[in-house]
Amino acid sequence: MAERKQSIHGQWSSRLAFIMAATGSAVGLGNIWKFPYIAGENGGGAFVLFYLLCIVLIGVPIMMAEVMLGRRGRQSPINTMRELAHEESRHGFWQIVGWGGVLAGFLILSYYSVIAGWALAYVLKAFSGAFTGIGGEQSKALFGGFTNDAYAVGFWHTVFMIITMVVVARGVRHGLEKAVRYLMPALLILLLVLVGYAMSTDGFVTGLKFLFAPDFSKLSGDAMLEAMGHAFFTLSLGMGAIMIYGSYLPKNVSIAKTTFYVAGADTLVALLAGMAIFPLVFTYGLESSAGPSLIFQTLPIAFGNIPGGVFLAGLFFILLVFAAWTSSISLIEPAVAWLVENRGMKRITASLWAGVVTWLLGFATVFSFNIWSDVKPLSGLATFEKSTLFDLLDYLTANIMLPLGGFLIAIFAGWLMTRKSSKEELKIKFPYGYPVWLFLVRFIAPGAVIAVFIVKTGLWTWAKNIF
Ligand code: PFF
Repeated sequence: MAERKQSIHGQWSSRLAFIMAATGSAVGLGNIWKFPYIAGENGGGAFVLFYLLCIVLIGVPIMMAEVMLGRRGRQSPINTMRELAHEESRHGFWQIVGWGGVLAGFLILSYYSVIAGWALAYVLKAFSGAFTGIGGEQSKALFGGFTNDAYAVGFWHTVFMIITMVVVARGVRHGLEKAVRYLMPALLILLLVLVGYAMSTDGFVTGLKFLFAPDFSKLSGDAMLEAMGHAFFTLSLGMGAIMIYGSYLPKNVSIAKTTFYVAGADTLVALLAGMAIFPLVFTYGLESSAGPSLIFQTLPIAFGNIPGGVFLAGLFFILLVFAAWTSSISLIEPAVAWLVENRGMKRITASLWAGVVTWLLGFATVFSFNIWSDVKPLSGLATFEKSTLFDLLDYLTANIMLPLGGFLIAIFAGWLMTRKSSKEELKIKFPYGYPVWLFLVRFIAPGAVIAVFIVKTGLWTWAKNIF
């Protein structure tokens, strides 16, 4: 290809900078807020095992593919896909991966920002001592009282959107690298403290069993789709976020190694969050299937009962906001980069536009927990009977759009790019590394996505009955 050594948006200063930024994108609300609550809703162990399988067999090879495509294209995902399709003499259709990603980014950030706003509000609550000595019922009431207040939730969503767009406007590389380097390890240490507290509770063993002992009778088609969708969500895959971070990656960096680090760190954080939360759920008689409120109900109890809890709680929610922040930036970066490349906008104008659209969309989620909590647009369909606008947005993006985007990326990287191109770009040094990657990305990852869709839609049961 015409050698394009650098993206017009700049480049990471080192391999570590990329690892930090990609980990910043991957580790977020998905690990600490979403993973525990969906594991709880889907019965624990078997779901967790299936999720881990998806990370290894689908997530890791697709992450390598995304980074590779990004680095080869060196532009926003839309333009990268157009250019690479052209280079490999393929149809311009493949740009759809970029467009789908931009749309998914807007939709995800719209609700992501609202939940991050909850975490912001909880920073203040924590420092005000609201959790001191708190029990299960009070914690539930505290959360319910807060989310019922549309003004409060809308306000914190607004604050979060502003801080996100400020960083995006300045360019993602300024400041982000350094901040992630210190705050990520701090988050890890605090999670370990929480797991330490969980160990001291009566429900520790029950919690661990719930999380790790698989009961496969609980693994429904719905649970499998949720687990697979979450593997994409948690690793920021299927929408171009990792692709655009790949486009800022220097040429000589090993893609395989960096991918292992990022996926490993992401998985570790999710499992630690689960280990901190489920023992509390069982000790304090909370519901494991409480849904999106789960961590906001359980963690205050832990902090309310440990020495230095006021400070630690405040710090924890600050770090959670930070983790969400570094993820949000990557959700909107593909859209902003495209506006800069194709519409000739300045970064700041592009960020403003993208930010305002997302902010407005976010009110669908803000209201889903209060004044629109009874709005269930698809209540006629069994799967969505109880789904609010927030639930639908989450389902559409995480369970459908990201796996579809990932599927197309796998097909493009595995089947349509020549082996020469992918081999040259990946430069995998492990023995058999390249053929194993190619096998996973050609057959296993796309096959698994299709298989899960088939099981979920009930086609499998239907086919079994016929034959
Ligand atoms: N990976 C992020 C999390 O787990 O919180 C969420 C996310 C970020 C999803 C970026 C998708 C994305 F492109």
